[in-house]
Amino acid sequence: MRDHGEFKFVTRRKKGASHVRTNYDSSISSLPDDDENDNYSNVNYETVFRKVLEAEVELKNSLFADNVFYYLRDSLSALNVSGISNILCYGLGHFSYRRSSKYQLALLLSLKKHYNSKVHVYDPVFSSKEIKLLKGLDCNIIQVNEEGKHLVHNNVTLIYMPHCPTHLINNFLYANWSRKLNKCILLTNSFSVVVDDLKKVNRSTSVDYISRIRSYATEIPLRNSFTCEEAFNDISIHIFLKQDVDTIPESFWNKREEPCYRDEEIDYLTAKQTEGVDAKNSRTKDET
Ligand SMILES: C[S@@+](CC[C@H](N)C(=O)[O-])C[C@H]1O[C@@H](n2cnc3c(N)ncnc32)[C@H](O)[C@@H]1O
Repeated sequence: MRDHGEFKFVTRRKKGASHVRTNYDSSISSLPDDDENDNYSNVNYETVFRKVLEAEVELKNSLFADNVFYYLRDSLSALNVSGISNILCYGLGHFSYRRSSKYQLALLLSLKKHYNSKVHVYDPVFSSKEIKLLKGLDCNIIQVNEEGKHLVHNNVTLIYMPHCPTHLINNFLYANWSRKLNKCILLTNSFSVVVDDLKKVNRSTSVDYISRIRSYATEIPLRNSFTCEEAFNDISIHIFLKQDVDTIPESFWNKREEPCYRDEEIDYLTAKQTEGVDAKNSRTKDET
């Protein structure tokens, strides 16, 4: 992590915030659950819609959002670009009944409005109700499980992966492993926290791309001041400044083998595991 003038680099740990996660079971029916839920999984579409819009207003009026927008403005200026054309979002989770996911969606919607960006989202656990709601909010649903390997082209893209499985972040970096990373802003799990946690258990090689890029990334930790504490802990903005990327030798980028994780280590849902769900969701896409 490097020091870049106006950016503050204070890495702060919050309680119980380990990002070393265990792998998912091979069955989609055993997806992770959480006990800190808003208890409205069974309420109707309109109620969820209203709750999401209320959360957006609450989030927008928070100091936390001020902070996010402040540091994003600084980041864009350091990157010498004027806006964010696209937002790619993986791993929001069940925002219809999980508080943290609901506020993470609220931030996504605020970012979308502020930058007038196109939004592309994917999480294999989305229910048909959640997909319908996201479409109603003008978000594009990615139809296949890309396992994080979405290729970013020349547009400035914000990659929003709040508390995402670390292998997904690693996969994203692998897929976009080139100087063009400086078109990407990653708003996701703090690279420093991820790598330090995995080093402690001798597993940092499983996130090789995060480990290797970390010293060329400018990481801007976000102070977790939001009322729903579990929504944004250990989330940082990561950017790749031209002056840093330009110091990287070509051989660094050329060393690019597809990540290969041991089955029992994989911390995300694989394309094979979700093919049934993805097929069902794309069949229902015209019905919603
Ligand atoms: C630890 S949960 C985080 C949920 C939520 N963002 C939060 O902070 O509470 C990880 C999320 O990643 C999602 N996920 C797993 N595999 C994925 C994949 N291949 N692509 C996108 N998201 C995936 C899971 O379904 C889950 O919602």
